[in-house]
Amino acid sequence: KNIVILISGGGSNMAAIIRAAQREGWRKSLDAQVSAVISNRPDAGGLAIAREQLVATDVVDHKNFPSREAFDAELAGVIDRHNPSLVVLAGFMRILTPAFVARYEGRLINIHPSLLPAFPGLHTHQRAIDAGCKFAGVTVHQVTAELDFGPILDQAVVPVLPDDTAASLAARVLTQEHLIYPRAIAALLPTLATAR
Ligand code: GRF
Repeated sequence: KNIVILISGGGSNMAAIIRAAQREGWRKSLDAQVSAVISNRPDAGGLAIAREQLVATDVVDHKNFPSREAFDAELAGVIDRHNPSLVVLAGFMRILTPAFVARYEGRLINIHPSLLPAFPGLHTHQRAIDAGCKFAGVTVHQVTAELDFGPILDQAVVPVLPDDTAASLAARVLTQEHLIYPRAIAALLPTLATAR
């Protein structure tokens, strides 16, 4: 089963997934491998990390396309070269069209740094602090047409501490992201068909 990971930035979640796949021997235990990492930004830091791990990389730069539809169509073409059983959004900062979401229905997942359904969208950590939340966290969910929505696969909770800034809370949440994203993927893979 091929896993394709989409990134836009540093790729620390991507790296955590690649590491887990190696450490836990997903090839043997789950018949699964990270086949490719695709970025919409040519300068995404995660691309170098993926190459170091000998994972194929590709760039589909959204700036080269006149519309979301055109970008998504090209992106889907590049993804489909890898026959993915699972497409993983890991800090992929583009809103996807309904047609793209429908194409990968049931095999497209995202990680969002809040306890959904609270705080969909951007600036989740500042919003949690501003709301006086005592707990924050992270959610792995199936992607549906609605942004940061869709069936929840896994969550982790962290405390919000009195002196927290958005940055300190984000760092605490991120350590949990790196634990639950590989875990959620390993749990989901046995339920997915092998794409050929
Ligand atoms: C993570 O906090 C993820 O939840 C959010 O964007 C960040 C990406 O970080 N959507 P990284 O690129 O995985 O390091």
